[in-house]
Amino acid sequence: MKKKHSKIRTIGVLCSGGDSPGMNAALRAVVRYGIAHDLKVLGITKGYTGFIHQHWEMMDRKSVANIILRGGTILKTDRCLDFHKKSVRARAVKKAREAGMDGLIVIGGDGSFRGAHLLWTEHRFPVVGIPGTIDNDISGTEATLGFDTAVNNAIDAIDKIRDTASAHERTFIVEVMGRNSGYIALDVGIGGGAEAIILPEEKISVADIAQRVLDAIHKGKMSSIIVMAEGRKSGGSMRLADELWKKYKIEAKVCIIGHIQRGGSPTARDRLLGSVMGAKAVHAMVNGRSDVMVGVVGDREVLVPFVKTVQRSQKIRKDLIELAKDLAN
Ligand code: F6P
Repeated sequence: MKKKHSKIRTIGVLCSGGDSPGMNAALRAVVRYGIAHDLKVLGITKGYTGFIHQHWEMMDRKSVANIILRGGTILKTDRCLDFHKKSVRARAVKKAREAGMDGLIVIGGDGSFRGAHLLWTEHRFPVVGIPGTIDNDISGTEATLGFDTAVNNAIDAIDKIRDTASAHERTFIVEVMGRNSGYIALDVGIGGGAEAIILPEEKISVADIAQRVLDAIHKGKMSSIIVMAEGRKSGGSMRLADELWKKYKIEAKVCIIGHIQRGGSPTARDRLLGSVMGAKAVHAMVNGRSDVMVGVVGDREVLVPFVKTVQRSQKIRKDLIELAKDLAN
């Protein structure tokens, strides 16, 4: 796969931002595919924090044995505020070059890609991204690592909640992750058969939500599940429950699933995605590509310029929102 005159001999790899199931699969693929093609791979611990402090070590085939099935990331991850400083980035690249690192693969979300983009534009340091976030909110790819696992984790939880909701004829508000985007909530809501789904992309009043619960009761459904996306900050479900009670005397129990969604063994889909994306990222870098993310469109991997990945042009499917309403009837 290697271009004859590739300047890339040693690559660094790090995970950045919130961890997501499948990061380990991607890391394993970067290491094994890299080594199989005569590259050296430096594993950087704790994201950009490790990058700026030269916390890295050489990876070998064995160092990534038996990690494909593990959630989290063996490299650990971080959200690094210092990396926002130009001088810090400049010093970090200088040190990386001195250590023989020729390029960097970043497994993370849009914030991490903004940082990677600057390494390229400011220093021409080769960077390739792999979308690792449960939120699935990155433009240019139909899937991000961890989304599938997070949705399945949340649906597992909802199935359990439904048992107790039904036994007590209760209404539950189940808050799911997705930082200001409703992709997780929409898939979980449909897959979990929710009576209502509350998304940041769609305004819905408390009165409307109350009406949906009352309609369900009227139709003989004595228990309801409302799936709510966390929005900008977790905890909105508590306020909603308060309002439902104060204004409509509807008692709703709240369950914030939280970080449970992000943990656990990745699904087969996320393992496959991580494996394919990891190899593609190495391949792209060796072939002179930089400032791009590996995405998937249909069943193919694509390379998407970083500037496009952060455009937030990824739209939630309105037809699925409508479908969810029809199915809840
Ligand atoms: O971006 C991934 C994500 O899991 C979001 O869904 C969530 O809002 C956020 O990270 C939680 O962040 P933290 O790990 O800092 O609690």
